[in-house]
Amino acid sequence: MRKKIAAGNWKMNTDPNFGENFIKNLENRPFPDDVLVILGVPYVSLLSMSNTAKKVAIAGQNCHQEDKGAYTGEISASMLSSVGCGYVILGHSERRQYFNETDDLILSKIHKAFENNLEVIYCCGEPLEVREEGSHEAYVGKQLEDSICKLDKDQLSKVVIAYEPIWAIGTGKTASPEQAQSMHANIRKVIENNFDRECAEAISILYGGSVKPANAKEIFSQPDVDGGLVGGASLKEDSFYDIIQSF
Ligand code: PGA
Repeated sequence: MRKKIAAGNWKMNTDPNFGENFIKNLENRPFPDDVLVILGVPYVSLLSMSNTAKKVAIAGQNCHQEDKGAYTGEISASMLSSVGCGYVILGHSERRQYFNETDDLILSKIHKAFENNLEVIYCCGEPLEVREEGSHEAYVGKQLEDSICKLDKDQLSKVVIAYEPIWAIGTGKTASPEQAQSMHANIRKVIENNFDRECAEAISILYGGSVKPANAKEIFSQPDVDGGLVGGASLKEDSFYDIIQSF
């Protein structure tokens, strides 16, 4: 059975006070046992939130590819581990777009994450022009082949894939359940071709891009969609809680 996952990505929003209250209030509500809840939060909130959290796993939103050194303003994978993170989000399209991250670089960050006992939420997804020209499956396939397909099977078991079409992120536009299902099936096929059927069946693939309470159920009910990576709607406790219950 694949893990069902509801992951939030707070991006550059909120402060530690907000984070601590959010966790306390969220965890006071009844939680489904079979859903893994992860929150990717700002660095300054990681320590207090992971100290407070009993059920929710805490994720960093990036890490550097080196162990340590003169990289002003950066954060290492070991620093994330040291404040209680279990996960790190890598390859988000905003990192690719604004910080020029390539799949080569993302792969080296993935290795660093593993060395420091972090599991990885690996993001992939196509821009609008690629979708419009119809080459989105090949585009995402290449992202996977240039990154996580270079791992071994044991490493792959510590990866969750998040498919996030760039045209649906923060735009209010969501991929239709059929579009999400068809890309997720394609991603599973790429994993099968590069590893084997067992690996493809075991890996959780999340959909991201304007997931909200109103569309989560329909998207999560697709056979190859194992949950969501949620930006805007994860910042409000009620809407994130509704999403957690949408499986
Ligand atoms: P969104 O962001 O839900 O606000 O579209 C998703 C993401 O970027 O992970």
